[in-house]
Amino acid sequence: MSCRVGVLVSGRGSNLQSIIDKCESEEIDAEVAVVISDKEDAFALERARKAEIEAYYIDPEATRPILIGKAEDNYIDALKEHDVDLVCLAGFMRIVKEKTISEFKWRMMNIHPSLLPSFKGLNVQKKALDYGVRFAGATVHFVTGDVDGGPIILQAVVPVYQDDTEEVLSMRILKEEHRIYPEAIDLFSKNKLKIKDNRVFIEGTNGE
Ligand code: GRF
Repeated sequence: MSCRVGVLVSGRGSNLQSIIDKCESEEIDAEVAVVISDKEDAFALERARKAEIEAYYIDPEATRPILIGKAEDNYIDALKEHDVDLVCLAGFMRIVKEKTISEFKWRMMNIHPSLLPSFKGLNVQKKALDYGVRFAGATVHFVTGDVDGGPIILQAVVPVYQDDTEEVLSMRILKEEHRIYPEAIDLFSKNKLKIKDNRVFIEGTNGE
């Protein structure tokens, strides 16, 4: 069964694009059912419409970067109306609260441009550079109430070079994001992800 994915976005949408492309080429067993943005002018909305995917802006009705109240209900309703099996946060710049998380319990993923649990929050590529780590990377994880702290599904590692700028490192990481996010969706769609305590076990592999 192909998994129906709802993608929440706020901006550029390059991760969304990688998901759309891999669905279209049938490299992954999924289809993007709806794209919702909290920013009216997000380029991600254009990408979705170009791919003939239903895409719309829903007013987040909050100045704080949190999805809450009536707006939260509107997001949940829209996702349910489109009958999504999985919700993917792809550069969605809002904290998702308990109501949404329990509605899509273990059916919501996020991509984060660091090797979690290192460097949570924002501007993490700069934080990695400033810290002087030799390796950085990206993480796909399930969303829980612990921001950037849910069980890890996949990670990818990239080297950090001494002459890296934030932009160069971000691009190196982003390339890996575009690879592992669709892969995590495919594993979910094929029902290969099992959660025990805080760990995700991938059926048929040793997690290598
Ligand atoms: C990505 O780096 C993602 O990891 C982070 O926000 C960025 C979104 O980029 N959560 P894009 O909108 O997918 O291009």
